[in-house]
Amino acid sequence: MTRIFNFAAGPSAMPLPVLEQAASEMTDWHGVGYSILEMSHRSKEFMGIYRETVEMLRELYGIPEEYEVMFVQGGGHLQFAMIPLNFAVGGIGNYAVDGVWSRKAFNEAQKIGEAAEVACTELRAPRQDELAVTDGAAYLYYCSNETVNGIRYWYRPEVNVPLIADMSSDFLSQPVDISKYGLIFAGAQKNFGPAGLTVVIARKDLLGRAESTTPTMLDYQTYANFESMYNTPPTFAIYISHLVCKWLLAEGGVKEMERRSILKSQKIYDAIDNSDGFYYNNIEKRSRSRMNVVFNLKNEELNQLFIEEALQKGLANIKGHRIVGGMRASLYNAVSVEAAEALADYMKAFAERHS
Ligand SMILES: Cc1ncc(COP(=O)(O)O)c(C=O)c1O
Repeated sequence: MTRIFNFAAGPSAMPLPVLEQAASEMTDWHGVGYSILEMSHRSKEFMGIYRETVEMLRELYGIPEEYEVMFVQGGGHLQFAMIPLNFAVGGIGNYAVDGVWSRKAFNEAQKIGEAAEVACTELRAPRQDELAVTDGAAYLYYCSNETVNGIRYWYRPEVNVPLIADMSSDFLSQPVDISKYGLIFAGAQKNFGPAGLTVVIARKDLLGRAESTTPTMLDYQTYANFESMYNTPPTFAIYISHLVCKWLLAEGGVKEMERRSILKSQKIYDAIDNSDGFYYNNIEKRSRSRMNVVFNLKNEELNQLFIEEALQKGLANIKGHRIVGGMRASLYNAVSVEAAEALADYMKAFAERHS
């Protein structure tokens, strides 16, 4: 078996024990005589998997009873629409924009209802005092980690309206006080499982406010009423996320993931900052993402060689997003400290050879 270090931004590295277990029970799940792929979502076996996944999520984040955990399809992009459809009714969705994904969410909200951009920053997250919530605000929306730009909020905004966060790329990577939020969501394909599944955690009393004309599948209340099974859910994705939750609990949970994230990202940032300008990262220091480390080579002509030689050394998918260019190393939970060390060592050696 040849597995290399995978720094992809999403879909991204999965914990090896999860892949191995899924492979070993692929044709016959726990002696039922058929695969999980062939199992009814209404069977007691699958309902067991589903309910345990929700329970493990509750345990990992300490999710209070007053919160609903829902599994939705349509990715982060559908959340960009569902949030205003469900929460901006009669009010103004407030958006803090500091990168590609919060910009997209704001644009979508403008198509649906009233939306205001309350902060707009580049190369950093806005500070608390820049978040000027409007009169009549229905919520404040922000993206806790901008995957493309490599920017994270180093704090949780404090506002007197429901707080909504896109946590797609830092989900389960650090403790979060869920009780401070109206809603958080995350596409699974970075830290939680396969693409095709989106987790939504929302305060129950905020649900059920959508207009009566809202399509059934776009109303969060439908997911709450039917344990996310009004229609057929992405069963295989939920099953894999179940294995990921087990792995996370066995590894020490979100506190341990945070410790590792700090360590891993520090290794790459050190390699950048100690390179005498061979590599650079322009993000304000406290806003630097721990999940997606973006950087550039001063000599852009070396970009292709840097990527090719990295791959030869077993370091895959470090090319930056096409919008911002340069490099990006995504260091999600399944990316080991050893992988980050290998990349940092490679960066140092490459810089020495080409300086
Ligand atoms: C922070 C963030 N939000 C939203 C999205 C969009 O997710 P999807 O492609 O699942 O719609 C992404 C995708 O990478 C993301 O990183």
